[in-house]
Amino acid sequence: MSTRAIVTGGAGFIGSHVVDALLADGYGVTVVDDLSSGDADRVASEAELRELDIVDLAALRSVVQEVAPSAIFHLAAQASVVASLEDPGRDCEVNVRGTLNVVEAAGASGAPVVFTSTGGALYGDDVPRPTPETQIPAPLSPYGASKLAAEAYVNTWSLASGIPHAVCRLGNVYGPRQNPHGEAGVVAIFAYHLHTRRAPKLFGHGRPTRDYVYVADVVSALRAAVGKSGTYNIATGVETEVMTIWQGLREAARREDPEGDPSQPEPELADLRPGELKRSCLDASLAARELGWRAEVPISEGLGLTYDALVGEFQRA
Ligand SMILES: NC(=O)c1ccc[n+]([C@@H]2O[C@H](COP(=O)([O-])OP(=O)(O)OC[C@H]3O[C@@H](n4cnc5c(N)ncnc54)[C@H](O)[C@@H]3O)[C@@H](O)[C@H]2O)c1
Repeated sequence: MSTRAIVTGGAGFIGSHVVDALLADGYGVTVVDDLSSGDADRVASEAELRELDIVDLAALRSVVQEVAPSAIFHLAAQASVVASLEDPGRDCEVNVRGTLNVVEAAGASGAPVVFTSTGGALYGDDVPRPTPETQIPAPLSPYGASKLAAEAYVNTWSLASGIPHAVCRLGNVYGPRQNPHGEAGVVAIFAYHLHTRRAPKLFGHGRPTRDYVYVADVVSALRAAVGKSGTYNIATGVETEVMTIWQGLREAARREDPEGDPSQPEPELADLRPGELKRSCLDASLAARELGWRAEVPISEGLGLTYDALVGEFQRA
């Protein structure tokens, strides 16, 4: 069997961690990324970077044919909710057409695809929590709609081709290398505010909840999903308020610099922005049963690991 893998979106936050884990296990890795939100510096030098747009089927096909991978991790996406509202056409093109192209290209080589969908943006507010995969999705944004449509292509192509493609619906992923300047990713955003001693805004007065899952746990879930054909929530099943994230990071900052100025900025409390979910928490018991996967890193530990790593990154930037 080939010991090569393709990671689309491998120059991004989560994809770059997938690349590192595969390299550590002796895989040859080819990254397919157009660098629209990714960074070539995140890609380990042992991996090969092919700079291309997944919307270009011919270019994608020729890379897949050449590499003949044993698995394709498909993370490349237009991953911003705000950008999807501003340009739903491009969001659709990358997330739907691009994903169709990935399963089409995979078909020729017989490689199973693991597709990263979203848990947070698929299920609405008015749902049981933790929310199981059987809940009928009701996305609030074009981003959620395009991920849902892409899931349908992945599942249909899996059934039609007999190649086991998997869909992983991720919770709110956090960890080292997350962009602190994006619209989402509160852990990185708050860490940057603490580091630069600026007050962040806590929308929804700090009360909204999310299911925060550490990036290393997501990587192990994606790897466990290779060769499975199912749809899995990848999350912790633990609901955490945004205020708790802020407080946890404040403690991590104090631990990191016990001699430093003890005063820390107080957050500004603001109303929830339109279209934002009030609460979200995913039931990951199917992944436990079928993938033998469970999140290992509790939020208390993950926040400390992330803060320390991000501060190092901020200092090097
Ligand atoms: N971060 C989260 O909390 C989260 C939650 C749920 C789902 N996801 C999904 O996980 C995946 C990775 O997310 P991330 O947070 O690492 O985002 P990211 O923006 O850091 O990574 C996405 C990568 O895809 C690349 N890309 C974008 N459009 C492309 C195109 N047309 N062709 C080739 N490459 C392209 C970008 O350059 C970037 O490197 C995405 O599919 C995202 O929708 C993320």
